[in-house]
Amino acid sequence: MCGIVGYIGEHQASDILLDGLKKLEYRGYDSAGVAVRNDENKISVVKTKGRIKFLKAKIEEGHGLFGTSGIGHTRWATHGEPSEDNAHPHASDDFNVVAVHNGIIENYDELKAKLIRKGYSFYSDTDTEIAVKLIDYYYKKYLHTPCDAISKAMVRIRGSYALAVMFKDYPEEIWVARKDSPIVLGEKDGEVYMASDVTAILSHTKDVYYLDNMELARMKRGSIAFFNIDGDEIFKETQKIAWEAEAAEKGGYPHFMLKEIHEEPRAVKDTLSSLLKENEISLERLGISDEDLKSISSITVIGCGSAYHVGVSAQYVFEDMARIPTRVELASEYRYRNAPLDKNGLVVVISQSGETADSLAALRKAKAEGIKTLGIVNVVGSTIAREADYVIQTIAGPEIAVATTKAYSAQLICCYALALKLAKVRNSIDEEKYVSLIAELKDLPSKIEEILSEEEDIKKLASEIRNAKDIFFIGREIDYATSLEGSLKMKEISYIHSEAYAAGELKHGTISLIEKGTPVVGILTQSNVYEKTISNLIETKTRGAHIICVVSEDKEKANTIADDLISIPNTAEYFMTSLAIIPLQLLSYYVSVQLGLNVDKPRNLAKSVTVE
Ligand code: G6P
Repeated sequence: MCGIVGYIGEHQASDILLDGLKKLEYRGYDSAGVAVRNDENKISVVKTKGRIKFLKAKIEEGHGLFGTSGIGHTRWATHGEPSEDNAHPHASDDFNVVAVHNGIIENYDELKAKLIRKGYSFYSDTDTEIAVKLIDYYYKKYLHTPCDAISKAMVRIRGSYALAVMFKDYPEEIWVARKDSPIVLGEKDGEVYMASDVTAILSHTKDVYYLDNMELARMKRGSIAFFNIDGDEIFKETQKIAWEAEAAEKGGYPHFMLKEIHEEPRAVKDTLSSLLKENEISLERLGISDEDLKSISSITVIGCGSAYHVGVSAQYVFEDMARIPTRVELASEYRYRNAPLDKNGLVVVISQSGETADSLAALRKAKAEGIKTLGIVNVVGSTIAREADYVIQTIAGPEIAVATTKAYSAQLICCYALALKLAKVRNSIDEEKYVSLIAELKDLPSKIEEILSEEEDIKKLASEIRNAKDIFFIGREIDYATSLEGSLKMKEISYIHSEAYAAGELKHGTISLIEKGTPVVGILTQSNVYEKTISNLIETKTRGAHIICVVSEDKEKANTIADDLISIPNTAEYFMTSLAIIPLQLLSYYVSVQLGLNVDKPRNLAKSVTVE
């Protein structure tokens, strides 16, 4: 979704801002803009609909933007269609205040009416223009200080925001404010950088400050100062980011998605290693004691998109292996539903970005009810990582492709490790089983490598199904969970309609959609339901379906019905999603590539969904 960058230093700001915006492209956007202040204190704004390269071209056509401080923005439309007028930065009519904004202002109607009464008019359909003019109003009405003007506006605005603001009267400063939308700042050799996402400033500095809710920051050449909403100065420590700037580059691959698929063995291995100590799952150093784990009466796993699908897979493992009643909830549903909550339960919020608005709201709801929360998060320092009671960090590195792959795989590992630890302390598995399951986990990276070595076969299969109108994914139990993710991957990057069905549900609707040649992908890794799913596949075959089976050990029956067979190595059945998902990710990738689509940035989607 929207991205923000800011810079003040000795170099030309437009180059640094454009470079930062390019790094934020992956979040998804439909227009972009920058504002740069020149030596004569004139702020110039350039905006375009569409890609950063159009913005760059427009700046060049206008013979460049010169100046050493500025702010930039990529916009993912919420209020108002994607257009140049609606693109950020927005400015007050006299350019007294120029700002960019991420988030949503919920009471924009009320604020707009107030400002109209005060004589303001509006040129765009955005809620951001209202924020800019509200700040301008308070700046002129009261004390003429940026901090006061922004704080007063913050008190009036309902919703979420990360704001970066330049004031005409304060040429040496950029101001930043936050509520529920992330902001990270860093300083290196007198140059000060700011962004909504650490990947945009990683090539400049790895020592960063995170702005917390209802806080402000003032960027000046060589310094950053922080303030609370009352305008009192507060002090913050920097946090070191372990990611390498190169990790956010394509590294020779044609797309980030393919690179990230190939990084899965490493992501799984590193995440697992971080949770193992002398061959035992060790969560104590995360602050989670055995006593805590013994006292949990239930687990609720919460997430959005693929993170939710990790939860669906984990549910089977928590229940079967650790014998703990488990629910999986979509964060957007959980946050508003008035269900009786289990006070002794554990709420596990899974999120790659750690910033998904609904997942964060769900976490806060659980915390407000006094329920212990555990975040499984990839981005260090993200809001969910900072607010959860306990955190398990996935060690997947920066994930840039909108469709998640390596973070999903790393999240699965965290859930498996948690399930094993719970099973051990609650005596639901014996020592021998525990040891053998850890050994299976340790073998997953090499088995994923093995699947990746069959990439050419998947590419061929993609060419067989790429013109399909619909593709169905079916399975039972854990295979159903894998189907959900396989289907999501397919539809989000190929735009082919796809659905995942619990195989037993086929006869309650979906089977009427099967036509001659409709691809049906059957996931067959769970022995107790293998024959049942085979029967369901036969029912679709009878009606003309093109059957693709993903199968591990027992291939005999699958072989007799499959038009195409994807064979994967075997592991403990609990962990089969980790292997079965790899060919499905590759299949979606190659279908999308062969259809000539924008694999890494599918239309209308955003990497990090920071608004409801
Ligand atoms: C978006 C992404 C998905 C991701 C979901 C949840 O839809 O495209 O890949 O699964 O958000 O994001 P999170 O950062 O919370 O894991």
